[in-house]
Amino acid sequence: MALLELRSVRAGYGVGPDILTDVSLDVEAGGTYVVIGPNGAGKSTMLKAIVGLLAPREGTIEFDGQMIGGKRPDQVLEAGICFVPQDRTVFPEMTVRENLVMGGYLLRDSAKVAKRLDWVMSMFPILEERAPQLAQTMSGGEQQLLALARAMMIEPKVLMVDEPSLGLAPQAADQIFDTIRRLSDELGVTILMVEQNVRRGLDLADHAFVLDLGTKRFEGPSKEIGEDPRIRDLYLGAMAPDVQEEGEG
Ligand SMILES: Nc1ncnc2c1ncn2[C@@H]1O[C@H](COP(=O)(O)OP(=O)(O)O)[C@@H](O)[C@H]1O
Ligand SMILES: [Mg+2]
Repeated sequence: MALLELRSVRAGYGVGPDILTDVSLDVEAGGTYVVIGPNGAGKSTMLKAIVGLLAPREGTIEFDGQMIGGKRPDQVLEAGICFVPQDRTVFPEMTVRENLVMGGYLLRDSAKVAKRLDWVMSMFPILEERAPQLAQTMSGGEQQLLALARAMMIEPKVLMVDEPSLGLAPQAADQIFDTIRRLSDELGVTILMVEQNVRRGLDLADHAFVLDLGTKRFEGPSKEIGEDPRIRDLYLGAMAPDVQEEGEG
């Protein structure tokens, strides 16, 4: 059995139409997965359904032997899935250290939080240097790093990240990708990420899902997906910026 299993998930917002029409997929423990697909395909919506920000209208989401579909976000977090959303909100008027402590609030034990804080600081030396600095004074890349580090405070089994490189300069994006790779290699954290820079996403992840119109159209090893002419024709040309133009923000 896979660590995370979606079966025929159908979901939408409020009384609106189905955004996810039928999504089934398996995420194996320790794997790195990227979700690609055109704008509006439902990639973010799928992540939101997994973490409990949206209840499936139909279908099941099972994690680590537990049905999590329809559970509250804090319950999903407690089960071991951490989510860094697209807007990567850090608390701007809190210091780096305070942001990290907030990430550990579920631990409910100050000794545990302190221990975990030491560990995260050692994993992210730049954040240790910046510990007393207000989060809002850091660059976009550093804030994304902080958002990832904060997610690691509870030692999640799965780290889900929505468009980690969005709005970052290429160098800052590289650093974020290196960090995600390191969390996978050194800690065995299972990674499920959405990435609009398809080439980079396929380079980082071992396995790729292609989502389109609310359903999974293709999946496979990233290398095969990147070389598949059907996928190249349908999707990659339109959405594979090798170089990002945006500045860091
Ligand atoms: N909060 C929301 N309320 C209503 N519709 C939404 C909301 N968020 C996203 N949508 C709609 O869901 C569809 C898929 O969006 P999204 O999952 O963000 O796509 P992707 O991440 O693949 O670009 C879009 O048509 C979008 O307008
Ligand atoms: Mg999105």
